Amino acid sequence: MGSPNGAERGKIPVHVAVIMDGNGRWAKKRLMPRSAGHRAGMKRMLRLAEHAFASGVRILTLYALSAENFNRPREELQGLFSLFREYFSQNADKLAEKGIALRVIGDLSLLPEDIARLIAESQRKAADGRAGTLVFAIGYGARQEILRAVNRAVTGGKPLTEGEFSALLDTAGLPDPDLLIRTGKECRLSNFLLFQCAYTELYFSDKLFPDFSERDFESALNAYKSRERRFGRTE
Ligand code: FPP
Repeated sequence: MGSPNGAERGKIPVHVAVIMDGNGRWAKKRLMPRSAGHRAGMKRMLRLAEHAFASGVRILTLYALSAENFNRPREELQGLFSLFREYFSQNADKLAEKGIALRVIGDLSLLPEDIARLIAESQRKAADGRAGTLVFAIGYGARQEILRAVNRAVTGGKPLTEGEFSALLDTAGLPDPDLLIRTGKECRLSNFLLFQCAYTELYFSDKLFPDFSERDFESALNAYKSRERRFGRTE
């Protein structure tokens, strides 16, 4: 839960969350279908994940599909589902070999059954996390996550501490993000990790996600390093 990580200036963030926005606009600019933008986004995502762990980031959380995104046209969703099938079938073993633990947060019952099964299997293969933890938010919405936690809590019937409540969220056991990056020019959280981002440093980039390079990621890390985190204290 929300233990302040990396509170000192100049430190690499322990946990980075990324809203990978702009795939559709990237494709539109090239007169390509939106699915081509998502494929370009997936390629970019693979490179950035490698780069992030090599830079010393320990936990990387990627917003791959929100609960609200399920209202998108069928064709676009089918394209994204194909990418999920491809990604998890090709990468679960590789991540385990590298010592990277895999975790998926969100409501997987929204997904076609075969993908939900593939994700569950992929998570089972997951390594101990000695080289990092890669978290995908799929079918994820922060308000829905909070309600799921509240519904789990009420059956317990006693007042909870902040820590006990955090342990009921999808992100149980993970520290809060230190840095949240959103690409694609929009400056909003879009129902992502609302509880966990109470003291997260925010970084917005105009770059569309498929164009967001390793250098851009480094710029975000450098911006983070120059911030002074006070968590409501004076110093
Ligand atoms: C938001 O851009 C992006 C998404 C809804 C999908 C993100 C998915 C990937 C980067 C690749 C697949 C991921 C995995 C785990 C294999 P948008 O389409 O809303 O862009 P726009 O704002 O330009 O329309």
